[in-house]
Amino acid sequence: METKFVLLILTLLLSISVTVRTDYVRPQPRKTLHFPWNPKPPSQPQQVHISLAGEEHMQISWVTDDKSAPSIVEYGTSPGIYTSSAEGDTTSYSYLFYSSGKIHHTVVGPLEHDTVYFYRCGGQGPEFQLKTPPAQFPVTFAVAGDLGQTGWTKSTLDHIDQCKYDIHLLPGDLSYADYMQHRWDTFGELVQPLASARPWMVTEGNHEKEKIPLFTDAFQSYNARWKMPFEESGSTSNLYYSFEVAGVHVVMLGSYTDYDELSDQYSWLKADLSKVDRKKTPWLVVLFHVPWYNSNNAHQGEGDGMMAAMEPLLYAAGVDLVLAGHVHAYERSKRVNNGKSDPCGAVHITVGDGGNREGLAAKFRQPQPEWSMFREASFGHGELKIVNSTHAFWSWHRNDDDEPVRSDQVWITSLIGSGCLAEKNYESRKILISP
Ligand SMILES: *[C@@H]1O[C@H](CO)[C@@H](O)[C@H](O)[C@H]1NC(C)=O
Repeated sequence: METKFVLLILTLLLSISVTVRTDYVRPQPRKTLHFPWNPKPPSQPQQVHISLAGEEHMQISWVTDDKSAPSIVEYGTSPGIYTSSAEGDTTSYSYLFYSSGKIHHTVVGPLEHDTVYFYRCGGQGPEFQLKTPPAQFPVTFAVAGDLGQTGWTKSTLDHIDQCKYDIHLLPGDLSYADYMQHRWDTFGELVQPLASARPWMVTEGNHEKEKIPLFTDAFQSYNARWKMPFEESGSTSNLYYSFEVAGVHVVMLGSYTDYDELSDQYSWLKADLSKVDRKKTPWLVVLFHVPWYNSNNAHQGEGDGMMAAMEPLLYAAGVDLVLAGHVHAYERSKRVNNGKSDPCGAVHITVGDGGNREGLAAKFRQPQPEWSMFREASFGHGELKIVNSTHAFWSWHRNDDDEPVRSDQVWITSLIGSGCLAEKNYESRKILISP
C-alpha cells in the first residue's frame, strides 16, 4: 500500500517535471503599468518622439501643458551647443471632457546621415539625443506592433533598447488608450526614452480609432499626436503614406480606411508604387495592421477584403516583405500570393505581440497551412537588417529569452535579384501603369 502511494507520488512528480520540460509555459498577460501622478512644469516638454519627415529631415513632436510654450527646437552635433534651430506648428484636440495639451510638431534639417544630434524642445527642459539613419545599407529596423502599456510592453521596449537599430516600425495599435485620453499621455511618456532617440514610423490599428458616433471623429487623438510624413509622399491622409530610407521604400497602409478600387488610398498606393525606382530603393516593404496571411484563430479572415483589393497591386510592384500586427502572436510565411506559395510574392510576417493588456492569441488552426513557416504565441519583437541590395536578415526575439537569442531567423533575398521583376515575366505589372 505504502509503496504504491510512493510510486504514485513519484509518477506524479515525474509527469510534472516532464510537462515542464517539454511544454513551453505560455506567459500570462501583465497588468497595465501604474503611472504615478508626477506633474512637470507646464512649459516643460513631455512625450517627446521623432519621425522621418522627407529626405534628410526629422520631425520632433512633444506636448506641453502650457498653451503659450514655443514650438522651437534647437539642435547641434555637440551636447549643449545648438548651432541650428527650427520652429514648427502646433495642434490640440478635445475629446468629450478631455482637452489635450499643446501638441508641437517641428521639422528639423537638413541633417547629416548616420549622425548623433543633441536637441532641446521649447527652449528649455532636458537635452535629448537622436541618431539619423544611414544613407546606405546596412540599415536595421526594429518591429513591434500592438504595444500597449503593460509590464510586457516595458519588457519589449527594454529588449529593443538593447539592440542596434536605426528606425522603429510599428504596424498599428500603439497606446491601447481605448477612449481614455490620458492614457495617450502616459503612453507618450513610456515610449519617450526610445522614441526620442530613433524615428518611430507608425500606422494605425483598430485601437487608434476611438470613434464615438455623433460625438467624436475616428483617429482624432492618433492624428493629432502621431503625425506622420504623409504630405511628403503625396498622400492626403495621415492614415497612409510612404517614406524612403537607405535603399528601402516603405509603404504604410491603413486597414481601417477605404481600400477598394475607387478609394483615395487605392489610387494613392497605385501612384506611389508606380514611382518606386528599384535602382534607388531595391527593397520594397509594406506595413499595415490586419494580416492577410494568418493561421491563428484570432481575427481569422479579417484581412480578406483588403487583400482582395490590394494584393494584386503589391504583387505587380514586386513587394518583398509585408509586416502586420493585430493578431497577438508571431507568424512568418513563405513568399506568397493569392493564398498560396509563389516565388514572386511577398514574405508576410505578423508581429502583433508587443505586450498589450489583452494577452496572447494562443490557438492556431490545424493543420498548419503550407505557406506558414513559423508560428508561435509569445511576446517579442522583430529585427530586420537589410544588409545590401539582395540580402536581408530577419530575426524574432521573445521577451522570455535574453535579447541576443533568436527564436526565429531567416535570410530573405530581394526580388530584385530573382528575375521576378524582369519585363518578360511581368505581365501583371500592367495593372500599375493602366489608368
Ligand atoms: C550581400 O550580403 C550577403 C550576405 O552577407 C553576401 O553573401 C553577398 O555577397 C552580398 N552581396 C553583395 C553584392 O555585396
